[in-house]
Amino acid sequence: MSGRLEGRRALVTGAGSGIGKAIAERLSRDGARVFTVDLQGEVDRQADVTEDGINAALIAKAVEALGGLDIVVPCAGITGFMPLEGHEDDFMRRVFEVNVFAVLRLIRDALPHLKESPAGRIVTIGSTTSRFGDEGLTAYGASKHAVLGMTRSIAAEVGKFGITANCLQPGAIDTPMTAPAFTDMPEFKEFWINKAALGRLGQPEDIADVVAFLCSDDARFMSGQGFFVDGGAMQRH
Ligand SMILES: NC(=O)c1ccc[n+]([C@@H]2O[C@H](COP(=O)([O-])OP(=O)(O)OC[C@H]3O[C@@H](n4cnc5c(N)ncnc54)[C@H](O)[C@@H]3O)[C@@H](O)[C@H]2O)c1
Repeated sequence: MSGRLEGRRALVTGAGSGIGKAIAERLSRDGARVFTVDLQGEVDRQADVTEDGINAALIAKAVEALGGLDIVVPCAGITGFMPLEGHEDDFMRRVFEVNVFAVLRLIRDALPHLKESPAGRIVTIGSTTSRFGDEGLTAYGASKHAVLGMTRSIAAEVGKFGITANCLQPGAIDTPMTAPAFTDMPEFKEFWINKAALGRLGQPEDIADVVAFLCSDDARFMSGQGFFVDGGAMQRH
């Protein structure tokens, strides 16, 4: 399938680690030119996506480097297991700033460029908690419901410009985000391995490969969808 994104120009946030890094690598392998952003890691631009005005600046940099934009994947996100009683305002605000507002601002500021593209693509990263609840993930789950909700409304609005917007909802993926929890609580890791019908944790590439499909011409008539890429975990109760 090499080359199916030849000529496409992509912006990926959260590309310094885990799923975002795998997405940037996969899009590049498929021929896209990719501008990568993260707080840390080997990226084109280190930045905090929640900083005032930063997303407009990042879009400008990406457009300057790539000559336009066809694909936007706002993957930067934070989690944080926290009992409900520990949900201080600052914690909740931070989760929403990174997972919701920065995502929305990036898409908003990229839109004028995506409109110029013959095949604009927006892929947001939700979670199984975009649909189901989970203990200790009240703010995170609320933020991921918001990501799915915004993606659906965006899809309804941007279709007339030939742009698609879809929300990919990963199951438990083995990344630096989940590694501490899996190390500290082996039973939690076992739970997710056993819950997946496919009997394993996901790898970042399991997500990246589907993102690449969504960005390709093969997914041209697919928009406003939210779907699990979770090894079948959500089908088992
Ligand atoms: N790993 C999982 O099991 C899982 C499951 C469902 C959804 N997700 C989602 O996938 C996305 C990627 O997660 P991951 O597992 O690869 O985690 P990760 O921690 O490996 O990567 C997230 C990246 O986002 C960056 N980031 C965080 N806040 C930022 C900010 N303010 N500005 C710029 N960069 C910032 C981090 O530096 C990090 O490199 C997140 O949105 C996460 O919610 C992950």
